[in-house]
Amino acid sequence: MRLDKYIAHTGIASRKEAAKAAKSGLVTLNGAPVRDLSVHIDENTANVTYCGKKVNWTKYVYVMLNKPAGYISSTEKSDRTVMCLLPPEFSKTDMFPCGRLDIDTVGLLLITNDGPLAHELLSPRHHAEKTYFYRCSPGIGEAEAEKICGGVDIGGYVTKPAKLRRDGETAGYITLTEGKFHQIKRTFEAVGSSITYLRRVEFGGISIDESLSEGDWRYLTDDEINKLRENCNSR
Ligand code: URA
Repeated sequence: MRLDKYIAHTGIASRKEAAKAAKSGLVTLNGAPVRDLSVHIDENTANVTYCGKKVNWTKYVYVMLNKPAGYISSTEKSDRTVMCLLPPEFSKTDMFPCGRLDIDTVGLLLITNDGPLAHELLSPRHHAEKTYFYRCSPGIGEAEAEKICGGVDIGGYVTKPAKLRRDGETAGYITLTEGKFHQIKRTFEAVGSSITYLRRVEFGGISIDESLSEGDWRYLTDDEINKLRENCNSR
C-alpha cells in the first residue's frame, strides 16, 4: 500500500496534508524521515510516525457518530450525508454507514469499512438489537403497547415482537431485532399514534456515548468492537 494512502486510511490526515508534513520531515518510516509518500510499504509491519505520533494502522476502522437530524445515512456525493460529518479522508476510504437512520432520526450510527461485520449485524438472521428512545403523539396506552410488543401489520408485513419500556404515554424505549423501512414510525402509525422524536441509543450491544454532542464522532474502543463481534457470534 502507498504510504500516503496508509496515513489517510487512519483518518489522521488527508493525503495532501501528509505530503506537506512529509516535506517538512514530519513523517517517518521505520525510524527515518520519508519525503516521498508514494513509496509502497507493508502495512502489517511498517512503523510509521506522523508529527511525532505513532500511526496505528488497522485494516478495519470503526467509528461511532452521534447523528444529528438533517443528514442522510448514505455515502452518495452530497453535502448532507453523514459522511460529511467525518474527516474528508474517510470519504476516500471504503467506509460506509452500517444501516440507515431516517433523516430526522438522531443518535448512534456505526460507520465502518468492515463489510463482513456490517453484513452480519444487519442480517435478519443475527437479530442484532437496536434500541431507540421515542416520543409519540398522541400517547399510547397499555392496549397499543401490547400490540406493538406482539407485532403489528405495517402494510403487508407483520413486525417481529418488539420490547417496549414506556415512560408515560408519550415517551419510552423500543427495542427491535429488525430494520424495515421507517419501521418504528410505521409501527406507531399502525396503533393510531405518530413518532415525533426518535433517537437510537443502542446498537448491537453498544451504547451511544453521551459525551458526544450531535454531529461528533469517535473511534470505537476495542471493548466495543468485541461486543459487536460477540453480538454476531452469539446468535
Ligand atoms: N425506525 C424508523 O422509523 N426510523 C428510523 O430511523 C429507524 C427505525
